[in-house]
Amino acid sequence: MTEYDKYAIAPPYITHWLRENSAHNDAFLTELEQYAAENNIPIAQPETARFLSVMCGIIKPRRMLEIGTAIGYSAIIAARAMGGNGTILTLEYDERIARTARGNIARAGLSDRIEVVCADAKDYLSYIDEDECMDFIFLDGPKAHYVYMLDDCVRLLRRGGVLISDNVLYKGMTADDEHVVRRKITIVERLREYIAALTNHPELDTALLPLGDGVTVSVKI
Ligand SMILES: C[S@@+](CC[C@H](N)C(=O)[O-])C[C@H]1O[C@@H](n2cnc3c(N)ncnc32)[C@H](O)[C@@H]1O
Repeated sequence: MTEYDKYAIAPPYITHWLRENSAHNDAFLTELEQYAAENNIPIAQPETARFLSVMCGIIKPRRMLEIGTAIGYSAIIAARAMGGNGTILTLEYDERIARTARGNIARAGLSDRIEVVCADAKDYLSYIDEDECMDFIFLDGPKAHYVYMLDDCVRLLRRGGVLISDNVLYKGMTADDEHVVRRKITIVERLREYIAALTNHPELDTALLPLGDGVTVSVKI
């Protein structure tokens, strides 16, 4: 079982098929995936990474915010897909991981377009001025804090901008009590609050997708 498979919510044969058909042919990304697996660092699953790439190609954000950089894998994929003028602000609270991300981003030749800020996103978001006007936000940080970050995400998103949140099904636990592991109860409850806040939000229209570990796509209306 790979690190990715642990988080799959679809039956194994579907997951296997999705991943085979979402595969890229990029030695650098493969190296990052291997590093993440060996060091137990969670990164976007292949089908989610491909979805992110396609969404960036469609939206072509000029300004993107990512919450949860890890080793820079998803930021590099997004920057490549969004085109030459787009820039990304990505937040990571673990200093060592943020350093690794900056190194990977430099190797990808993207240091002028991706800024890694080492901070607790929950606090840092409130310091970002809404003049920043994000076209796209990828929320992939601490799952239990999504619900506390939503107001700032909506404030920072321009009208028509897109918010994608990853891992919202949390291995299926969010959808069904029978799947909940006792030590994850708090995270699951907060994710349920987050989904309710998203789907009832007067400024957002949200779709829930059973992709990867569960993804929501919201547009600011
Ligand atoms: C799922 S990983 C991000 C994966 C990355 N987006 C990718 O796909 O390559 C989540 C990251 O969020 C970071 N994180 C956790 N809590 C945080 C917080 N409060 N503020 C900023 N980053 C946080 C973790 O250290 C971890 O690296």
